[in-house]
Amino acid sequence: MDFTALKKFLEDKKITVIFGGWSGEREVSLRSGRRVLDSLIRQGFKAEGFDLKRENLHLIRPGFTDVALIMLHGRPGEDGTIQAIFELHGIPYTGSGVEASAIGMDKITTKYILKAHNIRTPEYFFIPLWANLEEFGEKALNQLGIPCVIKPRSEGSSLGVRICHTEKEFHDALKDTRGKYGDLFVEKYIKGKTVTVGILGTGEESFPLPVLELRVKGREFYDYKAKYTKGLTEFIIPAEISQHSTKELQEAALLTHRVVGCKGFSRVDAVVDEDGNYYILEINTIPGMTELSDLPKEAEAMGISYDEVVLYILRSAFE
Ligand SMILES: Nc1ncnc2c1ncn2[C@@H]1O[C@H](COP(=O)(O)OP(=O)(O)O)[C@@H](O)[C@H]1O
Ligand SMILES: [Mg+2]
Repeated sequence: MDFTALKKFLEDKKITVIFGGWSGEREVSLRSGRRVLDSLIRQGFKAEGFDLKRENLHLIRPGFTDVALIMLHGRPGEDGTIQAIFELHGIPYTGSGVEASAIGMDKITTKYILKAHNIRTPEYFFIPLWANLEEFGEKALNQLGIPCVIKPRSEGSSLGVRICHTEKEFHDALKDTRGKYGDLFVEKYIKGKTVTVGILGTGEESFPLPVLELRVKGREFYDYKAKYTKGLTEFIIPAEISQHSTKELQEAALLTHRVVGCKGFSRVDAVVDEDGNYYILEINTIPGMTELSDLPKEAEAMGISYDEVVLYILRSAFE
């Protein structure tokens, strides 16, 4: 991809990398943001960082910067809230817009969209806050059986994701999840490989990266600790799935990015079962960009450098 025009256009403009925030993923965001900032400086851009906190939120107003590169994970940076502030102030910002960000943050709405486009996703049972937990829990159990997965409606980094092997575990986890997160859902457990597919670009020009398989050592699944501790996860690229499965999954992931309306970059998480069928779990509208992160690894496997990924992200502010 030729980024000469973009580089020329941004020559004398100020780029601000927004990172930090106050979600459960603050630490990851700081790491992602600093890496992206280093890359921009290395590439000769006029860039600086902004560690978003409640106390400095008011500094974001018209004229705050020429371009905001949003590298926040979780709320309020990945769900459309910050995007709306930049939108109102007329400041160009990177990545998905307000609507796509809000959809991506919400795993239930994402599932509605996946179903509408015939994209395979695990069977699930939604248990909203207003529902009787016992009654709905019983219904979910009857429909999905054990093992099953309990998840908060809107979280990330595997926070709150619980695989339940017994009915007791299920009921305990249900109560605990409701208490901590409110809206939740139960999902059918898919035995298979944990995989993820990054997407770069916007709309018609978007394309999938190679499929990355995450093999966790000594832990039950790809949980928070496995995600952010060096050495706990083995990264296999390309994933050890057939060519046919790979192609199907990449097409589904790309379609997910497009129908949700994502811009610039995103990462689609999935499980591939023993027969090679993919199941899309979710889309991350601001995937991690740390030194351990998946999307930069996938890009590299395709010959796209970290710096170039940053340019794809940057360009999305003007698409
Ligand atoms: N239905 C499922 N079947 C099997 N494993 C799952 C299922 N749902 C989640 N997982 C495991 O948990 C991880 C995190 O789930 P995911 O839906 O991607 O939530 P998060 O937003 O927290 O990343 C997945 O990468 C996968 O390893
Ligand atoms: Mg995930």
